[in-house]
Amino acid sequence: MKKQLSKLFWSVAIIFCFVALSAFVVPQDQKTAAAWEIPAKYKAMKNTFKGDAASEKLGKLLYAKHCKSCHGNVGEGDGPKASSMKTKIGSLKNVKFQAQSDGEIYYQAIIGRDEMPAFDKKILEEEDRWAIVNYIRTLK
Ligand code: HEC
Repeated sequence: MKKQLSKLFWSVAIIFCFVALSAFVVPQDQKTAAAWEIPAKYKAMKNTFKGDAASEKLGKLLYAKHCKSCHGNVGEGDGPKASSMKTKIGSLKNVKFQAQSDGEIYYQAIIGRDEMPAFDKKILEEEDRWAIVNYIRTLK
């Protein structure tokens, strides 16, 4: 009787360990991002650094430095840090994403929300900010 009880105890203990472990090993489901609410001020913002080759090149450099780790090489949302995010990162090449105005993209890229970091204290020059938007335009 005692032996059986100890067997039962160990079976339960082992099952418990597996369940506990799987919670760490199996990636948690990422939630799909909700639509962004962009303030009217940003929606209407004009890009005064309209993309030329030099601006796009600068944007590419800044993207590689600040964004690539999450958004991936070409904006597919598959950078090394992407899988650790609770929210799934969408593709910047996506037609629906690219259909937004430059100001809307600027807001998402510079102001951010939740897991999308704010860059307004890190990327200070308007020229640099719009260069990133211009580079994102080349990804479509
Ligand atoms: C630490 C990871 C991380 C970094 C670094 C990062 N992002 Fe993001 N980004 C996210 C996540 C996560 C989302 C989705 C968040 C949401 O929708 O709430 C996102 C969303 C966005 C979106 C909206 C796209 C969409 O599909 O909804 C844009 C645009 C964007 N990021 C641009 C940038 C730019 C530009 C940079 C660099 C200046 C950058 N991000 C750096 C994690 C990151």
